[in-house]
Amino acid sequence: MADLDDIRDGKDFGLGQAAENDGFYLKGSNNLDWGMKDRLSRIFRPETGRTVMLAFDHGFIMGPTSGLERIDLNIVPIAQYADCLMGARGVIRSSIPPTLKKPVCLRADAGSSILTELNHNVIIDIEDAVRINASAVAVMVGIGDEATEAKTVANLYRAADTGNKYGVPVMGVTAVGKQMARDSKYFGLASRICAENGAHIVKTYFCDGFEKVTASCPVPIVIAGGKKLPEMEALELCYKAIDQGAAGVDMGRNVFQSDAPAAMIQAVSGVVHDGLKPEQAFELYNTLKSQK
Ligand code: 5RP
Repeated sequence: MADLDDIRDGKDFGLGQAAENDGFYLKGSNNLDWGMKDRLSRIFRPETGRTVMLAFDHGFIMGPTSGLERIDLNIVPIAQYADCLMGARGVIRSSIPPTLKKPVCLRADAGSSILTELNHNVIIDIEDAVRINASAVAVMVGIGDEATEAKTVANLYRAADTGNKYGVPVMGVTAVGKQMARDSKYFGLASRICAENGAHIVKTYFCDGFEKVTASCPVPIVIAGGKKLPEMEALELCYKAIDQGAAGVDMGRNVFQSDAPAAMIQAVSGVVHDGLKPEQAFELYNTLKSQK
């Protein structure tokens, strides 16, 4: 019970001043609950509406792939430059210091490895995501893959249900089978299906005609980097994606397999948040690389 002594009547009611009632800055997110918006604000910087997510979940399917042999040596030193860390729970718990205080996008499906068929995943318990204090969970969807499409769309649907229940955004990750065309028709279809089934964020790949993919997806899109490219090409990819409507990147190999990962992620951030052109970002990369 508060001390009842000296209770003062309110006197400044801001009469005549309209209450602030701004819309939320992220595409398609205005009608979400407070906890969702709070978590999304940790991932997407409110000043720019964009994000640089650092993806290092590859090991959950591929094991100790190049650049991710030691999360403590490869990822922890560069994590400070990311807006959000995307990884699987075992690596988050074992190797990412909670004192980093970085939002986590938790890989929330499991069940595949590169030794067998991909995408036969099931989703993991949302409660574990809450225990980890995840700011989002990521679920892979295999659109166009006969063997796994129905199951993975159902995974996403259920993840969105539990995400909505607990206020945890769900990122639909469009997995591309070898037989799929990597064009705007396919990525537009896959991204839209993710959003229609409840994804709050979609992760997909850049392609020609990418502006049609972002325009027809009602929620923010982040791009994966894909296979390792020369740094200048990777920065051009980021630039084109942002220019054509992406709300950020969720990049892995083009950062952690770079000759200078810390310089590369800062250059990517320069493109995403500071409007650097690819040439300017590449110059920044070279400058930072020479200082290491
Ligand atoms: C795979 C993923 C990866 O995190 C994604 O591919 C990002 O990494 P990269 O930039 O190396 O492609 O979500 O399902």
